[in-house]
Amino acid sequence: MRACENSLRKLRTDRLDLYLLHWKGSHPFEDTIEAMTHLQRDGKILRWGVSNIDVPDMEKIVAMPDGVACEANQVLYNLGERGVEFDLIPWSQSYQMPVIAYSPIAEGRLLRNPVHLKIAEKHDVTPAQIALAWTIRLDGVMAIPKASSSAHVIDNFKALDIILDEDDLCALDATFPPPTKRIPLAGW
Ligand SMILES: NC(=O)c1ccc[n+]([C@@H]2O[C@H](COP(=O)([O-])OP(=O)(O)OC[C@H]3O[C@@H](n4cnc5c(N)ncnc54)[C@H](OP(=O)(O)O)[C@@H]3O)[C@@H](O)[C@H]2O)c1
Repeated sequence: MRACENSLRKLRTDRLDLYLLHWKGSHPFEDTIEAMTHLQRDGKILRWGVSNIDVPDMEKIVAMPDGVACEANQVLYNLGERGVEFDLIPWSQSYQMPVIAYSPIAEGRLLRNPVHLKIAEKHDVTPAQIALAWTIRLDGVMAIPKASSSAHVIDNFKALDIILDEDDLCALDATFPPPTKRIPLAGW
């Protein structure tokens, strides 16, 4: 409750649209959910969700009183970190709970890969735009790239219009293989 009050003050606002638990901490989920529910009733947040929470803990959260009100899970997801495709994304889709991909451009690390560059050239866009278009290709997955220039923000917005075809997806799968077994949630 105190953390939310501090954030409201720092942001100079009286209400947050979506408030996330950053990661599993020392407090039991029950207490966090109770606090989120209070904040929602008080009108300080419209919705709440979580971040960096893997499937076994998500199962616990949705089974708790008011736990199904969890609106989103923000996790690490990009071409180089595809573990969540095996279980977390399908699980979230079954609950119609959006997955928010953080570091969708892998902090810029994947942008010089030759396959990536070739696909960008084919679509006449940048490698960052291909990374974003790929990240949001699945139902219920959105991305939050960090960009510190207007030019990058505009480029990233335009990635919504890129449609990757089967050839693109196969080439990317060959270079950045999808998971074949459960991998515990990664994060940074
Ligand atoms: N929930 C969590 O635990 C967690 C953990 C990590 C990050 N996050 C959040 O995830 C968001 C983004 O993650 P991130 O910053 O780690 O990684 P990211 O968005 O994958 O990468 C950011 C890097 O990509 C560059 N970039 C952005 N748009 C570009 C474009 N169109 N062309 C070329 N380069 C571009 C940025 O450069 P410029 O700065 O020059 O634009 C920056 O160097 C942040 O809002 C962060 O708070 C959440």
